Amino acid sequence: MNPLLQEEREYPFARLLETKRRRQAEGRRVLDFGQGDPRDPTPAFIRRALADGVPEVSSYPTVKGKPELRESIARYLKRRFGLDVDPDRHILPVTGTKEGIFTSHLALLDPHGTRRGVVVFEPAYPVYVQGARYAGGTVHAVTVTRQTGFRPDPESFDPEMLAHTAVMWINYPHNPTGAEADAAWYARMRELSREHHFILASDECYADLGFGTPHPSVLVPEEAPDFDGVLAFHSCSKRSCMTGFRSGFVVGDPKWIAVLARFRPSVGVATPAFVQDAATAAWDDDAHVQEIVERYRRRREHFLEAFAHRGWHHDGGNATFYLWLRVPEVFGDAIRFADRLLEEDILVTPGPFLGAGGEKHVRFALVSTEDDSREAAARLQRIQP
Ligand SMILES: Cc1ncc(COP(=O)(O)O)c(C=O)c1O
Repeated sequence: MNPLLQEEREYPFARLLETKRRRQAEGRRVLDFGQGDPRDPTPAFIRRALADGVPEVSSYPTVKGKPELRESIARYLKRRFGLDVDPDRHILPVTGTKEGIFTSHLALLDPHGTRRGVVVFEPAYPVYVQGARYAGGTVHAVTVTRQTGFRPDPESFDPEMLAHTAVMWINYPHNPTGAEADAAWYARMRELSREHHFILASDECYADLGFGTPHPSVLVPEEAPDFDGVLAFHSCSKRSCMTGFRSGFVVGDPKWIAVLARFRPSVGVATPAFVQDAATAAWDDDAHVQEIVERYRRRREHFLEAFAHRGWHHDGGNATFYLWLRVPEVFGDAIRFADRLLEEDILVTPGPFLGAGGEKHVRFALVSTEDDSREAAARLQRIQP
C-alpha cells in the first residue's frame, strides 16, 4: 500500500455529518451549509443535452474531447475574458477540476528532480496538497490572512522557496473566503512565475460566481498566443450546478497543455461524450448563470443582514457562494462555534478543516434554499454561547 494512505487523517467532516444524521433521525430539520455542493437543479436544457447525447453504440471518449466542446469553451473565453485561444492547442477537457488538479501533478512534476516544490496558500481547497504529495512533490504551504485580503504578498516570498518551486497554485475567487484578485496582482504573479521558472496554476472554478464587477482571469489577451507558464482551471460544477456531471477544462500555455494531453490517455480520465455534450450547451449559455448568481445573492443577503444585526463579521470577499464568518469571541474557537451552531441545527464547516489560517473562522456554503437561508438567519439571531 502507498504509505501516504496511512498518513491520511479521518475525513474531518465525518463527525459533523454523523451528528447531522443523528439529529435528522430525531426528526429535526438540519439546515446544511457545510459542503460546497449546490443542491439546486441543473438547468433543464443542460440535462436534455446530456440525454440527447447518449449514443446507441458506446465508444471510448478521447482525451482531447470533441471539437464542438473545445469550440464552445473558446467562445466562452472570448465572451467572458476577451481571450483568443486556439481550441486545439490551448484547451483540454478535464473530468471535473478536482480530477484535473490532482492528476496534473503527475504530469507536471519530476518526482526525482531538484525542483519539485508545490506552493499552496492556506486556508485552501485541500486537493492541491493531495495531488502534490501523491506525485512526489514537496509542499510549501504559506498562510494568507485577512490583512492582505487572503492573497499572498508576492514581494514577501522566500527566495529559497521560489528557487525550488515547480508549480504554484492560486485560487480566486477563493474557497473558502470568497476573496478576489485583481488584474495588477495577477500580472505580478505572472511576472514572478517567469522570473523564477515555475508554472502558475490558477483554479478559477468560481470565476463566474461574483456579486460585483466580473472577476478577471490569470490569462489575459495581451499574453496570447502562448500564455507562457500559466494554466487556468475552470469547471461546470458551480457555474451551472453540475457537480455530478464531472466536467471542466484547463486552458493556457500550449507547451504544458501538450504535456497533459500526452499523460492523460494513460489514466482513463477522458470525459464521457454525452457529458461533453451537456458541457458544450452549458459553456454556450450565460443566462442560466445569471439566474444562479441571483439566487446566491439573495441567500447571501439574508446571512449578511443577520451577521450585521449581531455585530458579526464576514471577513472574506464579494464572490463565490461562501461566507467566511469570524468566530465571535464569546463563542470560543471555530470547532466549538460549529458544534454550537449544530445544536441549533445549522451545519457549517469549521475553518481549521481547510488548513492553517482557518482557526478563527467558520465557512457557510450557501448551497441550501432561500427558505433555509432565511430560517438559518432567524436562528442566528437567537443563538447564545
Ligand atoms: C477551489 C475548488 N477547486 C476545485 C473544486 C472541484 O470542483 P469540480 O467539481 O470541478 O471537480 C472545488 C469544489 O468544491 C473547489 O472549491
